[in-house]
Amino acid sequence: MKNNLNHNNSQNLPKHIAIIMDGNGRWAKKKFLPRTAGHKAGANALKNLVTECDKIGLKHLTVYAFSTENWKRPEEEVNDLMNLLREYLQNFVNEADRNNIKVNVIGDISKLDIDLQNKILELTELTKNKTGLNLIIALNYGARDEIIRAVKKISNEVLEGKIKANDISEDTFEKFLDTYNIPDPELLIRTSGEQRLSNFLNWQIAYTEFYFTDKLWPDFNIDDLLEAVEIFKTRNRRFGEI
Ligand code: FPP
Repeated sequence: MKNNLNHNNSQNLPKHIAIIMDGNGRWAKKKFLPRTAGHKAGANALKNLVTECDKIGLKHLTVYAFSTENWKRPEEEVNDLMNLLREYLQNFVNEADRNNIKVNVIGDISKLDIDLQNKILELTELTKNKTGLNLIIALNYGARDEIIRAVKKISNEVLEGKIKANDISEDTFEKFLDTYNIPDPELLIRTSGEQRLSNFLNWQIAYTEFYFTDKLWPDFNIDDLLEAVEIFKTRNRRFGEI
């Protein structure tokens, strides 16, 4: 469905959209293709969507690319996903001069291959002053893991006497999360008909609106995102008030 949201008017957009990109495997199965082909098509869908999101003036887009639980998949599939990521990040490095997109990564990247870690550092450094879309890729990300890592960091600060335990507030705690400095998502989209959070941004989505679509991730495009935004705009967000 095409919709009438003005592509040049970023005022109509939520500041931050988060997406659980689900359904690559089912997309491939429907086409009698290997799961890898689904992930490849998924990476392509993401590439196109990111370009379009930058064009329409979205400020922050967070995508769930690899969860802490995804390591349980067969080794071959994990390797395929890591290779796709390598390619995706390298592409960004190659095109960094030509676009205005900033890239950040959330999650525990210390468990990734060293070349990938270096690629991430190179890309975040290379794009840190860009003023367009802030693309946040969740990689080896799990919300519970993020919270535990934050608790460890804050505990060390307490031990070192830098913070008093009694002074810990939501605001101080948030500074230890991977998403420090990024506003909470206003809209969370999950594709493929599943309606779960799957350990994604548990802390940050306290007041986020959810939108579920049956579309499989490789088929999801900017018109689908704008349709989700239209629905989002009809929601009455009360933040606990009446
Ligand atoms: C879910 O599909 C998707 C993922 C496991 C990760 C998302 C990965 C991509 C979009 C491609 C690579 C990403 C980047 C950033 C290059 P699924 O395999 O769970 O699908 P299924 O539920 O239909 O089996």
